Amino acid sequence: MNSHSPRRKIGFLGGGQLARMMILEAHRLGLEPHVFTANANDPAAQATRFTTIGKLQDIKSLENFLEKMDLVTFESEFAPPETLKALEKSSKKRIFPSPEIMRVLQNRLSQKQTLQKFKIPTAHFFPVSTAQDLMAAWNSLNGAFVLKKNFGGYDGYGTFFAKKISDLKGLEEKLQTEPQGFIAEQMISFQRELAAIFVRSANGKTLCLPLVETHQTQGRCDWVRGPLTHKQWPFMQKKIFKMMKGLDYVGALGVEMFDTGRELLVNELAPRVHNSGHYSQQALLESQFTLHLKAGLGEHLNPVQVLAPQFVMTNLLGESDKELVPPNDLKGVLHLYGKTENRPGRKMGHVNYLGPKGSKLLSAALKERKKFQL
Ligand SMILES: Nc1ncnc2c1ncn2[C@@H]1O[C@H](COP(=O)(O)OP(=O)(O)O)[C@@H](O)[C@H]1O
Ligand SMILES: [Mg+2]
Repeated sequence: MNSHSPRRKIGFLGGGQLARMMILEAHRLGLEPHVFTANANDPAAQATRFTTIGKLQDIKSLENFLEKMDLVTFESEFAPPETLKALEKSSKKRIFPSPEIMRVLQNRLSQKQTLQKFKIPTAHFFPVSTAQDLMAAWNSLNGAFVLKKNFGGYDGYGTFFAKKISDLKGLEEKLQTEPQGFIAEQMISFQRELAAIFVRSANGKTLCLPLVETHQTQGRCDWVRGPLTHKQWPFMQKKIFKMMKGLDYVGALGVEMFDTGRELLVNELAPRVHNSGHYSQQALLESQFTLHLKAGLGEHLNPVQVLAPQFVMTNLLGESDKELVPPNDLKGVLHLYGKTENRPGRKMGHVNYLGPKGSKLLSAALKERKKFQL
């Protein structure tokens, strides 16, 4: 069947905003998007009538879901990769990126080891599972580090900053609660955080979306702006493309980086579409969501077209449990995720802006965000 044939069934594991935005693009491409998620009201389930309610741990219902699909992808790397590997084999349905890539990248330690293997610059680190390891890391990393859970961390949940020796006591207690352990990572005094989405098609072709600055507050993405340049960026791109080829990567890959001024260091990799790429819905001819799907289908990827000299994305993070209300004179392009409940810190939506060269786009966008009831 030609990859353009209509009504190819594409399955999405997980029903949050990332799946929702991929599904919206899947409709546009004439695909039939199916979602496997825990609740009928989840953001992605609202975007398609083909919803299977289930848990990723329930092998039987996952198997039934896969059987019906032509192709499957996911919105979170925290699914059981061994189960998916076995089901991919028995059902002969392709999952992209592969469950093996999911396995390697879902764990901080094996992710960092992968970066090292491909000689990609990244902060020094040590595996940590005991109080002794913690102390040894403290000494080796010159008395400051960031402790990161090997499994399941996101949006700053799972990262802990040790700045003084008395911080170690509290961290020691955390060690007991994580069977998969931690890494202690060198504290980087970065000038800014950068990110980019890379895409590799099943036909082997790659591309990279513009380099952007991402701003985090309390470990959570707050805003993004671009496009940017950096002296080390061409070098880094080459390295990442090489890694993607080496892993036979298919789909979108989110790459978070630290800019120390002179160098670029990779902070982390996310084997999926990523919050730092949401601007692409307005600022690029084809969004990261479209490109991820085209990559999975093995389609040709067109060169990236940036539609404005400047773009900004602001995240709408909940501040209460009341309903989110946008201002009635909003200038940006609103994307709400349809979450049934607002909560402090919860990603509820985002707003995209385009602007001319030299305009104060970021400050205007942040000013406009103050008019939201969050
Ligand atoms: N080694 C580090 N040095 C300084 N700040 C860090 C370091 N690692 C993480 N951070 C800060 O914490 C944030 C969240 O950490 P990250 O590793 O990206 O985990 P998450 O999966 O939660 O996004 C980063 O965006 C950055 O602001
Ligand atoms: Mg991060």
